[in-house]
Amino acid sequence: MNSDQLRTRPKITVVGAGQVGSTVAQLLAYNNLGNITIIDIVEGLPQGKALDLQESGCLQVFDSLITGTNDYKDTADSDIVVITAGLPRKPGQSRDDLVAINAKIVKSVTEQIMEHSKNPIIIVVSNPLDAMVYMAKKVSGLPKHRILGMAGVLDSARLRTFVSLELNCSLVDVDAMVLGGHGDSMVPLPRYTTVSGISITELMTEEQIERVVDRTRKGGAEIVQLLKTGSAFMAPGASVVRMIDSILRNKRRMLPCTAYLEGEYGWKDIFFGVPVKLCSTGIESIVELKLTDSEMAALNKSAEDVQNTCKQVDAILAS
Ligand code: APR
Repeated sequence: MNSDQLRTRPKITVVGAGQVGSTVAQLLAYNNLGNITIIDIVEGLPQGKALDLQESGCLQVFDSLITGTNDYKDTADSDIVVITAGLPRKPGQSRDDLVAINAKIVKSVTEQIMEHSKNPIIIVVSNPLDAMVYMAKKVSGLPKHRILGMAGVLDSARLRTFVSLELNCSLVDVDAMVLGGHGDSMVPLPRYTTVSGISITELMTEEQIERVVDRTRKGGAEIVQLLKTGSAFMAPGASVVRMIDSILRNKRRMLPCTAYLEGEYGWKDIFFGVPVKLCSTGIESIVELKLTDSEMAALNKSAEDVQNTCKQVDAILAS
């Protein structure tokens, strides 16, 4: 492959060279998804990680170009931008405790990205997730199909894992759907959680279901408690890469993502976790499920929580 061919590959920028950003870059490279630019405010960090990753290419068999930088000019003309910049949680903190500091970081990152890329697809990972995507949308002015957040793929992966552990069955047969905000009031849907097409409502007792649902809601905090110095990064990184794979390879996978609602599920002007179809232009469509009264009540509670956090973002934007 000559350098001209290398330049025609998709350009993916990863903002933040910390735990999540590094994992995203590594998995993007291993999956040969495009050339990768890693940017961070810390000098040397993105350059060092980029060089280390590039040097693994001949061993892992990928030839994507990996660049590390502190200069947003190097992010010019990105096709996809993943924003992981910001603080992770400490034990005892909720995601919402990060809003003030991370909102300012996400605002400044988005402004600088948009100076150099006209029409990227932005995927936000920084927490509190739903409010941070809301900030990025308000600042970028991107159309709603080109800006989304990563949460539902991760929360569903956690539910899938806990179901397989509870039933002592293979992970690969388990599928799951988690809607709502990326917080304690997220809405795992047992009716739409299956093992080889069979709903867990037929395979598990109510007590078992409650156990896996509760562990899913607290899945992020469980990892924070164990790590003590940071939050999860391997499953979050893998979740982002599944989304990018569906976008860049135009797979139209139906995945739970944080999308901008304009009346779907009865809510508007908020970002919220819903099933979407992901194609080369971003979100092709939002899937509206028929929910039961109790599922809808849980969804409304989660949306109210998200809306309250977004009010803090509005206040920062107005200041
Ligand atoms: N521009 C670019 N990078 C920044 C900026 C900024 N303005 N501010 C902070 N960063 C960088 C930090 O220098 C650090 O390298 O963001 C990186 C964050 O990395 P970690 O501290 O390792 O955090 P990580 O575990 O990757 O989590 C990042 O994702 O899942 C969420 O809650 C998590 O909000 C957190 C984010």
